[in-house]
Amino acid sequence: MKTRMITLAAALLTSLGVQAELRQFELTIEEVDLEVAPGFSSKVWAFNGQVPGPLMRVQEGDEVEVTVFNNTTLNHTIHWHGIYQTNTWQMDGVPEVTQPAIEPGESFTYRFVADKTGSLWYHCHVNTAEHIDLRGMWGPLIVDPKEPIDLEKEVTRDAVLFFSSWDSSVAQTYGENAVPGRELDYFSINGKSHPYNQPLRVREGDVLRLRLYAPTSPVAFHLHGHDVLVTHKDGSALPAPYWADVVPLQPGERYDLIVRMNNPGIWMVHDHIEENTTAGGKEMGGSMLVVEYEEIAKPDFYMWKDIEFEPDFYMVESMAKPHGLHNIEAFMGVEPALERRPRRTSHSH
Ligand code: CU
Ligand code: CU
Ligand code: CU
Repeated sequence: MKTRMITLAAALLTSLGVQAELRQFELTIEEVDLEVAPGFSSKVWAFNGQVPGPLMRVQEGDEVEVTVFNNTTLNHTIHWHGIYQTNTWQMDGVPEVTQPAIEPGESFTYRFVADKTGSLWYHCHVNTAEHIDLRGMWGPLIVDPKEPIDLEKEVTRDAVLFFSSWDSSVAQTYGENAVPGRELDYFSINGKSHPYNQPLRVREGDVLRLRLYAPTSPVAFHLHGHDVLVTHKDGSALPAPYWADVVPLQPGERYDLIVRMNNPGIWMVHDHIEENTTAGGKEMGGSMLVVEYEEIAKPDFYMWKDIEFEPDFYMVESMAKPHGLHNIEAFMGVEPALERRPRRTSHSH
């Protein structure tokens, strides 16, 4: 209920045309281990220690200033995927094209206007076959439009899903990506492989918005029991939203879906690319989750009957908060125990 009230309040403010603001954020890049599945961890370069990176959410027209501190052993940049960077091309985050890469121990401040709306994202642009594809260097940048379409105004739950893949053969070695010929063998949603991820809980009558992201490899999204209305592609509202029950995504693509939760039950969601629903070669893992209607009693045989529920795993709680940068505890990696790395203690530039 609280979530719904906050969402309604935000929608109202949006419709009133709130003034553009200066949004100042700080991001560090950390070397941590991400436990993707029991028995499988990958070394990642994690924004604020998290995979996916923290939710950055601003309003159309806001000035965004992000200072990035590189606390790792290799170079990085950040590309703001979708932002037009009109007259600010130097902020586009491409090493040796728009800036020198940010070296270990250094920082860089990006300044740009949120001039494109919708489900955008940010990611490293250095050696992307490793940094994006295998080291978790991606997160959501959501720019709320001043004039949302009517369907968006109905949303009661807003969820963010990043589908990604992993390669256990190089997971423990920074600087390796095994391209060409690599074999991806773990798949995850928001950094965790099923069944180590979480259910998405809804109530009958909810209008669920799903923001799908495919940063690393193709996905064929499928939700049982419902058709979905595809409303936005790569942030832009479609002139004619269309119905689907499978939504394919190529790497880099985003689709926003609206689902009317009108069929109480416990429903599977999965990637229909069969190898993406395996984990270390075993079936029934990877890119899957379950949508649970809260009204439905969980049967005894249900695999997640007694799960310790993490309500922000699909960023639903963070999406109900005001604009800003939202760190999400559930996405934190752990610091490697043995290798102590040199680390900046101050945030001086
Ligand atoms: Cu990087
Ligand atoms: Cu990109
Ligand atoms: Cu199915």
